[in-house]
Amino acid sequence: MLKETTDQPPTKGILLSGGSGTRLYPMTLAVSKQLLPVYDKPMIYYPLTTLILAGIRDIMIITTPDDQAQFQRLLGTGEQFGVTFTYRVQPKPEGIAQAFHIAEDWINGAPCALILGDNLIFADGLRHMLRDATQRSHGATVFAYQVRDPERYGVVAFDEAGRALDIIEKPVTPPSQWAVTGLYFYDGRVCDFARRVRPSDRGELEITDLNRIYLEEGTLEVDRLARGCAWLDAGTPDSLMQAGTFVQAIQSRQGLLVGSPTEAAYRMGFISHAQLLETGTRMKKTPLGQMLLYVAAESGPVVV
Ligand code: DAU
Repeated sequence: MLKETTDQPPTKGILLSGGSGTRLYPMTLAVSKQLLPVYDKPMIYYPLTTLILAGIRDIMIITTPDDQAQFQRLLGTGEQFGVTFTYRVQPKPEGIAQAFHIAEDWINGAPCALILGDNLIFADGLRHMLRDATQRSHGATVFAYQVRDPERYGVVAFDEAGRALDIIEKPVTPPSQWAVTGLYFYDGRVCDFARRVRPSDRGELEITDLNRIYLEEGTLEVDRLARGCAWLDAGTPDSLMQAGTFVQAIQSRQGLLVGSPTEAAYRMGFISHAQLLETGTRMKKTPLGQMLLYVAAESGPVVV
């Protein structure tokens, strides 16, 4: 299991799964976007796996009021993954940074990671990158990824020495190809900083404005993801399809699971071999269950 190097409390994690999913209508008229399938798993399994690989065991799931019951039905208390889930609602999608208002009492001054429920990250050495981010006791860490269509995202401007100069939300003329992914790590001051963020022109509390506070303070680390990494957001029909195809290709070619919180929890030492076997057996009629049983047969927990 990951260990914090300082005396700070363990990092908490927020899985933000609200929003109206309008870019996926009519698929999201009756079902939350983050519960739609990405190949063989509900979308939320992928960012949940990332938080588990970061060693985070205390996780808040923020949903719309209408969707909360379905998330609870899918994920329960967290016991099956060796974590604890706390559920809260966001009444209206008033911005990603609002998560830190909703969760402020629960965060209670601890460092906190935030991941968007539609973000899928698959990278060699991901666990080490996540560990570095959780071990920074001061400041914030975001991850940048080179994309063809940066105008869809928060975009980083760099100076000639490669230092981050600015982050701009959905710029008409992007200063670089480097988009900020939906995975963020913050120190214990994040809720104080979030209170300083004012609604943008589109009426949202922008996560980019929160990140800019850290940037201006000189404590924002922008880690660039290497080209071999995959970062996908599944917010449009095309990206949803691409994410599913990507997961299917890796899993069938390599026989490795992508985005399994059960496997991640086992490898992090959050659940026992018996619990892994139990989940695999319960799902043994599916390829996913078969792969979990294969993991149970082949390996022991990896301690990092
Ligand atoms: O995916 C990374 C990008 O996410 C970043 O590069 C951008 O800086 C960041 O603003 C965000 O951009 P999006 O255009 O993808 O944000 P969107 O409004 O689509 O929200 C992303 C997810 O967060 C979506 O699955 C719904 C959820 N969400 C969003 C808002 C605004 C909420 O749960 N509540 C909200 O209030």
